[in-house]
Amino acid sequence: MNNKINKIGVMTSGGDSPGMNAAIRSVVRTCAFHQIECIGIYRGYQGLIEGDFKEMDARSVNNIINKGGTILKSARSKDFRTKEGRKTAFAKAREKGLDAIVVIGGDGSFTGAMIFSEEFDFPMMGIPGTIDNDIYGTSYTLGYDTALNTVVEAIDKIRDTASSHDRLFFVEVMGRDVGHIALNAGVGAGAEEILIPEEDLGKERLIESLKRSRLSGKSSSIVVVAEGDKTGDNVFELKDYVEANLPEYDVRVSVLGHMQRGGSPSCFDRVLASRMGVKAVESLLEGKTNYMVGIRDTQMVLCPIDQAVKGKTDIDIELIRVSDIMTT
Ligand code: F6P
Repeated sequence: MNNKINKIGVMTSGGDSPGMNAAIRSVVRTCAFHQIECIGIYRGYQGLIEGDFKEMDARSVNNIINKGGTILKSARSKDFRTKEGRKTAFAKAREKGLDAIVVIGGDGSFTGAMIFSEEFDFPMMGIPGTIDNDIYGTSYTLGYDTALNTVVEAIDKIRDTASSHDRLFFVEVMGRDVGHIALNAGVGAGAEEILIPEEDLGKERLIESLKRSRLSGKSSSIVVVAEGDKTGDNVFELKDYVEANLPEYDVRVSVLGHMQRGGSPSCFDRVLASRMGVKAVESLLEGKTNYMVGIRDTQMVLCPIDQAVKGKTDIDIELIRVSDIMTT
């Protein structure tokens, strides 16, 4: 292990996700295991600029593995986008004696980490924390599995009332500009239609599909719409379009929103977070920097952070086919 690293900072940045606390816990305890200091940085890069630090030891992270959100809070920092802001951040990091920082966040947070590391030759390590699962270099990001289960549970509840009233529900889910949550939770919840930004099949096809569902005897339907979908202007415009073209349908909209970002992390996310925290700290101790920790085929891997930032995740074509078959 590299003996240059004696004090590691840890922060959460960007949109929060379930599992971030489990990752913080793992980073802190891995530091304690290797007898190096760990400093919590509140509110992401903004907290770094402001020197908002907290000494963390193995006991500081008791009873948080099961908690959603992040005890270190998260934020997006406009100041860090400026060279001046980053210089202040570097000065504060040095003043605190930090030798490296683990950033738990999404691609925007990793862009900041990459620039900061290059500008100041400062070791940075990324842990992918976002419900969107839209980061290249890992099969799963922290919070994605929990968000899927949250969405499936919500849609199951919506289906109860939809079937009681023979209604069609449009359910909008998060994911920013990718459809992973919509597609996987849609299949898991047995949605009749799933609209994702990766494929725009048009509103007419949606009408035909809903007609077929009705003719096949379905008296209620669930249409899951990714927030980045472009089939309609938005989920409410889709509702109006269906009501105009299928007057026999009683249509409602449910936007799940930020509930998808909360909740106690699933076991999968807790275990993933624990593994990623160990990999991040021990990679830094081995002298590695500017990587993102990921998981591929159940194994922990490192992805160069510039590839994680620039790369794109593909939608699962085979799963789209499964979804189409399931709506028979
Ligand atoms: O990136 C996570 C995410 O929840 C996206 O799915 C969503 O579009 C966005 O964050 C919402 O951002 P905010 O919390 O700033 O409204």
